[in-house]
Amino acid sequence: MWPDNRFIKLSGIELPIIQAPMAGSAFSDMVVAVSEAGGLGSLACALLSVEQARNELETIRRKTSRPINANFFCQQPPRDDRARERNWIQRLDAYYTELQADRNTSIPQSTRAPFDEKMCDLVMEFHPEVVSFHFGLPDKNLLLRVRSTGAKILSTATSVDEARWLEDQGCDAIIAQGFEAGGHRGMFLTDDVSTQVGTMALVPQVVDALKVPVIAASGIADARGILAAFALGAAAVQIGTAYLHCPDAKITALHRQALKGAMDNDTAITNVFTGRPARAIVNRFMREVGPMSDLAPKSPLAAATLTPLRAKSEMAGSADFTPLWSGQAARLGRGLPAGELTKQLAAEALKNLRSLQTAACESR
Ligand SMILES: Cc1cc2nc3c(=O)[nH]c(=O)nc-3n(C[C@H](O)[C@H](O)[C@H](O)COP(=O)(O)O)c2cc1C
Repeated sequence: MWPDNRFIKLSGIELPIIQAPMAGSAFSDMVVAVSEAGGLGSLACALLSVEQARNELETIRRKTSRPINANFFCQQPPRDDRARERNWIQRLDAYYTELQADRNTSIPQSTRAPFDEKMCDLVMEFHPEVVSFHFGLPDKNLLLRVRSTGAKILSTATSVDEARWLEDQGCDAIIAQGFEAGGHRGMFLTDDVSTQVGTMALVPQVVDALKVPVIAASGIADARGILAAFALGAAAVQIGTAYLHCPDAKITALHRQALKGAMDNDTAITNVFTGRPARAIVNRFMREVGPMSDLAPKSPLAAATLTPLRAKSEMAGSADFTPLWSGQAARLGRGLPAGELTKQLAAEALKNLRSLQTAACESR
């Protein structure tokens, strides 16, 4: 039925659509809805404590017996750089004055911790059928433990080099993430965003370089994008921003509003919210301090310093200091419940595929 069934067979799902893990925005409700609809629901664990991740996984396992994906970050923790942190705090000082934010507020330490033994214990306990990583892979021992559960292992590549590296480490499928993607780039062999590749160019080159199935991510939000991904040689798609519009997404009203109104060229890659390059809708903070800034401390310290400003500003009804994560295809979002969206996208893609095949036969 689908031009390439390899990922469907590998993961045991029915529809080749992965709801992208979205840290801070997609939780058990969405995972259950997408998996029950036949796609692959993904729980992003990067911003969850071990206890929170356990609760979410318990809920998911209670509500669905379909395959699920648990997703983790495996970035290197930042080196202490007090001078840079001081400069960053100084850069934000005028905003603290303007918003009357308390400079002495104890800044919460982010839980953006890399995958570790405790999270690995959860994988051993809940046996997600798929485990995916962002920013490379964890160390060999952790990876062996994950593999011993029988989980299929995925990770994100933003270049052919990264894709080859991940395949060499034994990944079962590779997510090719293009420049258009919302949220953080999964890049790990380089931090040069200026050479990032778009989906249209990236996917076929990654497909040509690898033996394992390739999942196309970024800028895909409707049946046309899904079909294009298959035409480029992908065996599935991973969709993020289109699922952010769903009522099941846990985002603020300000973020939802911004997504609804976003034009194709309203986003940019920025490091000012977390210290790592990520795509978001341009707002005042990005315009005035970034979008890329040499001052921003490495992830996750930048986010912590911004928290009091964001809180004050959101209380006043403004998204000036809020990371409005979004990919370039926000405008194609529909706002349907996640399960319905999954089914609708798959049905439309199959219908378009059949029309193309009929048209090709007729023109012979
Ligand atoms: C709000 C948001 C949060 C994200 N968080 C994660 C994450 O925790 N883990 C991950 O692997 N990818 C994450 N991503 C990236 C997605 O997996 C995916 O690559 C991207 O959304 C695809 O592009 P699209 O947004 O144009 O569909 C996130 C994306 C968004 C929009």
